[in-house]
Amino acid sequence: MNFHDSEKVAGSLVSQGYRQVQSAEDADLIFYNTCSIRDKAEQKVFHRLAEFKRLQKLGKKFAVIGCVAQQEGERIFERAPHVSLVAGSSSYRNLPQMLVQIEHGERATGLDDRNTEETFETEFTARTNPHRGYVTIIEGCDKFCAYCVVPYTRGRERSRTSESVLEEARRIADSGLTEIQLLGQNVNSYLDPIGRKSFAELLAAVGEVSGIRRVRFTTSHPRHFSRGIVEAIDALPTLCDHVHLPVQSGSSRVLSAMAREYTREMYLERIEWIRAAKHRTISLTTDIIVGFPGESEAEFEQTLTLLDEVQYDGVFSFKYSPRPNTPAIAMQNAIPEEEKTARLATLNERQREIQRANYARHVGEVMEAMVEGHQPARGQITGRTSQNKTLNFTVPEGMSAPGVGAYVPVRVLRSYPNSLVGELADAAENGNLSATRPAPEHQPRSEPVTHSAL
Ligand code: 5AD
Ligand code: SF4
Repeated sequence: MNFHDSEKVAGSLVSQGYRQVQSAEDADLIFYNTCSIRDKAEQKVFHRLAEFKRLQKLGKKFAVIGCVAQQEGERIFERAPHVSLVAGSSSYRNLPQMLVQIEHGERATGLDDRNTEETFETEFTARTNPHRGYVTIIEGCDKFCAYCVVPYTRGRERSRTSESVLEEARRIADSGLTEIQLLGQNVNSYLDPIGRKSFAELLAAVGEVSGIRRVRFTTSHPRHFSRGIVEAIDALPTLCDHVHLPVQSGSSRVLSAMAREYTREMYLERIEWIRAAKHRTISLTTDIIVGFPGESEAEFEQTLTLLDEVQYDGVFSFKYSPRPNTPAIAMQNAIPEEEKTARLATLNERQREIQRANYARHVGEVMEAMVEGHQPARGQITGRTSQNKTLNFTVPEGMSAPGVGAYVPVRVLRSYPNSLVGELADAAENGNLSATRPAPEHQPRSEPVTHSAL
């Protein structure tokens, strides 16, 4: 999300006549986008700002944007007086006015727009991912999970119109990119302000944009995750075989304390819907927080048994980090740091074995990989499957190496807990993919894209 915000901010600056450069040393104005989801990310910001101070002597100006900017507000000017602009994500659409202010030597702030109905849209997004176009469909979050800072920093939920999302998707396809990732803190709350399209309907419509071969989305909240989403994935080959469904904990008691609005049983019911897809094997990944205040040893065990039950292909696991303004910060029975560290290690170890077995099941399969890059030093090409698994492969003698952005069949020869290794297969195997994805109906419109990554 932040990565894409940076793409949009950079693009809108370029449309104002600024020019993007490769390093802070080359810049007159340095934008620093920040994250405050956990304390560690936030601490990094202040270290980096201190480092920037030496550049001030060279006459450079500094802007701090994102969640730390929103959270700390004008306190940033106190801690880092060399900063000229502080703005949260709800204010990005006002950047042009703020830029005029700082060009006149004044300080500018964008901190009071979190109640807005408006979204930040720009047709000038500076796309830096060479094979994937990100599209924000909903901004903000109204969920107020007890541990989370996002509703306070990103403001209230507001959806873009489906028309404008589809227009952007078509622009992305026209530029030669074939993969789109729809973004939102909680995409299941998407509600088209004009056309009344649900998220599942929007997803299907994006999947039908000519030239688009893969559509991903993140993040889903389990409370409003609908069967319609699974039906759309099952019906449309362009929608990827992957759902990221953050569970946070396997204990219903902890989930209730987290204000997640679902129980373990409700969550597992959604997993059943996903597993019941008729034509596809949908890969599942999740987010987990260990050591939420009051989490007992037995409740943590329930998270481990949930891992066993669901058999995820990937888990992003975090130690609970107390955040300012959130209800959880005042909760009793904090879990000691060493205990959180121990639980995290136990969880990661258990999950590693699950993934080792999951990934090993692909050995022998032919899967479609999208080429993401070449690694000449290792003699490998990096690819990604529809299920979002990394599939590195070699090219047998006599076959030519596919370019970045190409879709190719790859026979899986070896597996690791986080990646697969294979060999480019004959094009004839494309119609014979044992992965559950039918061959796409349309060919890419243009040659493989070769934009260079920044
Ligand atoms: N502490 C630890 N992890 C957190 N996350 C969000 N807030 C916190 C916090 N205070 C995690 C959640 C979320 C992911 C993006 O970050 O698991 O899904
Ligand atoms: Fe944070 Fe996600 Fe909960 Fe929103 S739904 S409050 S972004 S964890």
